[in-house]
Amino acid sequence: MNKSFLLKLTDVTKTFDGLDQPILDKVNFSISPGESIAITGVSGSGKSTLLHLMAGLEKPDHGKIEIKNYSIDTLSQNQIASIRNNHYGFIYQFHHLLPDFSAIENVVMPLLIRGGSQSNHINQAIKLLKTLGLENRANHMPHELSGGERQRIAIARAIVTKPDIILADEPTGNLDYKNAELIFDLFLEMTTEIKTAIILVTHDSKLAKKMTKIYRLAEGKIHTK
Ligand SMILES: Nc1ncnc2c1ncn2[C@@H]1O[C@H](COP(=O)(O)OP(=O)(O)OP(=O)(O)O)[C@@H](O)[C@H]1O
Ligand SMILES: [Mg+2]
Repeated sequence: MNKSFLLKLTDVTKTFDGLDQPILDKVNFSISPGESIAITGVSGSGKSTLLHLMAGLEKPDHGKIEIKNYSIDTLSQNQIASIRNNHYGFIYQFHHLLPDFSAIENVVMPLLIRGGSQSNHINQAIKLLKTLGLENRANHMPHELSGGERQRIAIARAIVTKPDIILADEPTGNLDYKNAELIFDLFLEMTTEIKTAIILVTHDSKLAKKMTKIYRLAEGKIHTK
């Protein structure tokens, strides 16, 4: 595999029962460190499915998915989970905060899983909450937060580890424009400062234009816009 690619999909096909054509049909895609890609497409075109495959959360019917030097499809679930913790930040379309843990505990969790100094981790998480204007929500439980606050906590949890790649499924769908722009600018800062690669799904064409490339998913294929 060409080392300059961080993530590469080769002829990836995915079919679901009940649909007459593959939701992804021999998709080819790659992203390099520091690149940012927006993925657009109508509801049901397969955007979330594509991100799940990229993170090893689902398996393709055919084709190859490579992250760094690993071929995801040949690894065990434990190995994939470890790669996800070490290299990915994943932001779900419907944010999956752990309901029994506070905002700050949710954010610090991926750092604790990696091991190392607990107090450093907590300081890092607090710093990020401050950047996002959420420091006074740190000890709230998820059910005590607004939809937009929960979404920003989920974003903080995904970026706190400074991942190699961020996969974000409509990360700013619940946010006002000012907060959405702050998140996009934070992502872009990571692409330049630590060469994080970003793949995000968005319906906002103005925000999509901040990314280096815009792709559209339709009829199982990725189209350049
Ligand atoms: N586990 C599943 N089993 C069966 N069908 C599925 C499954 N997951 C997704 N689908 C179907 O695959 C298609 C693509 O779903 P997906 O969630 O990837 O779309 P999307 O582009 O993210 O849509 P949206 O913009 O509404 O989030 C849809 O028709 C959906 O019903
Ligand atoms: Mg979706």
